[in-house]
Amino acid sequence: MALRKDFYWGGATSAKQIEGAWNIDGKGMACSDIEVAGNRENNRRYATYIDANGNMVPGMIMGNPPAGTTPHVFDNENYPYHEAIDFYHRYKEDIALFAEMGFTMYRFSINWTRIYPHGDDEKPNEKGLQFYHDVFKELRKYNIEPLVTISHYDDPVDITAKYGGWTNREVIDLYYKFVETLFEEYKDEVKYWIPFNEVNAVLFMLEAYGNMLPPEQKKQFAQETYINLHNRLLATAKITKLAHDKYPQYVICGMIGGGVCNYPHSNDPKDVLKALQSNQLSFLCTDVMIRGYYPAYAQRIFDEVGVDLQISEEDKKTLREGTVDMYTFSYYCTCDVSATLNTSFTQNFAVSVKNEHLQYSAWGWAMDPDGLRFALNNAYDRYQVPIMVVENGLGEYDKVEEDGSIHDDYRIEYLRAHIKAMKDAIEIDGVDCRGYTTWGPIDIVSGSTGEMSKRYGFIYVDRDDEGNGTLERSRKDSFFWYKKVIESNGEEL
Ligand code: BG6
Repeated sequence: MALRKDFYWGGATSAKQIEGAWNIDGKGMACSDIEVAGNRENNRRYATYIDANGNMVPGMIMGNPPAGTTPHVFDNENYPYHEAIDFYHRYKEDIALFAEMGFTMYRFSINWTRIYPHGDDEKPNEKGLQFYHDVFKELRKYNIEPLVTISHYDDPVDITAKYGGWTNREVIDLYYKFVETLFEEYKDEVKYWIPFNEVNAVLFMLEAYGNMLPPEQKKQFAQETYINLHNRLLATAKITKLAHDKYPQYVICGMIGGGVCNYPHSNDPKDVLKALQSNQLSFLCTDVMIRGYYPAYAQRIFDEVGVDLQISEEDKKTLREGTVDMYTFSYYCTCDVSATLNTSFTQNFAVSVKNEHLQYSAWGWAMDPDGLRFALNNAYDRYQVPIMVVENGLGEYDKVEEDGSIHDDYRIEYLRAHIKAMKDAIEIDGVDCRGYTTWGPIDIVSGSTGEMSKRYGFIYVDRDDEGNGTLERSRKDSFFWYKKVIESNGEEL
């Protein structure tokens, strides 16, 4: 099977990492607005809160406020998402560059605080609604299909500060109202929706940080993590049902972080079994979103971390009635799983043992194109629904030459190998993959470290980690390469 003629080629970003304009035109404060920058060596990032004495108290990124504090922005901290790359004011120029490369799809997210500034406002903010109309209009001008992520790590701060976050079921209703607004408002402009970016990312956090906690706290953290996840899976099912009942043209894309390809570190049967269990953990959310129920192995996972999820009959019905239409995932690296070795090393928050057969990026993420072919097969064998790869790319340092050119051969090499692997999965293995959007087609602020120097783009943005620079855009070598890839529908790599 060759690549479909209507195969989608493009790129993907998120609101917090590109838009900037954090406090204008009625936008409220998002959790990302209180996140400070980190760096590769010492990624001690925190969110800033203020106590009753006016002192800054650091809190966990995307967590609830420490006791007795409220979210606050301080003058002497570096908040990289406040300005990001100022897409809010430069979207026309950026979309024109995407069009020049021949994009047929652009994935981006809507910032909840532009639409409902506090998350629980009675009426939506008209200026926020208008901004996304303007973006859709610009995309249509070039026949670029939008793929809209509804929530990408930027909930309003009040969702945590006032409601205690996603462990509170009331938040499902607030999100539902937000989505009802979007579905109605943009019904003539959008077809593809992703309810949550990497809905399973909280499970990576639990694995990565849970082990640092004393047993009782770890158990509490696990319980909250799974309630948070359950509520977002319910929210996904509810809005999917809404889409199917009222907007049959919509395609709802369940998304998880990571292609499901966790290798056994050795052929020791214990490692092999552990890898199977690790793959099951990765598939947990898509099993629920696509099949409409928790799989049998879920109980083992809950028992292992001491979680008691009371899933009511009503919840089961909700999950059954709102199964998504497409499987989508981000793919950067694979993990190596061992039953005996210490797995303290993390890449994109996933815990892994180093794999001696793979090369690692400057940020320590494994580069594994074969893993993408594996992941596509693994998902398609399991579900037989259409798939899209909605994030893939290499975050690297780039060097601007004296004449302004940027020779990013390493990026071309990475993407070439991954696209080849994806094509093999489609053309040789028969996987029904409908699209591919690279992560960060234009340089954006990093999601995990908050750095600008971790660049993924075909388009360079003049801005450094401290926020200095003109924000001017320029084309890297990869820009011209990707243009040819799209022009030839993946034939010329
Ligand atoms: C994904 C996230 O997991 O990884 C993105 O959806 C993020 O928001 C991307 O930017 C790459 O991670 P990073 O830390 O290199 O920006």
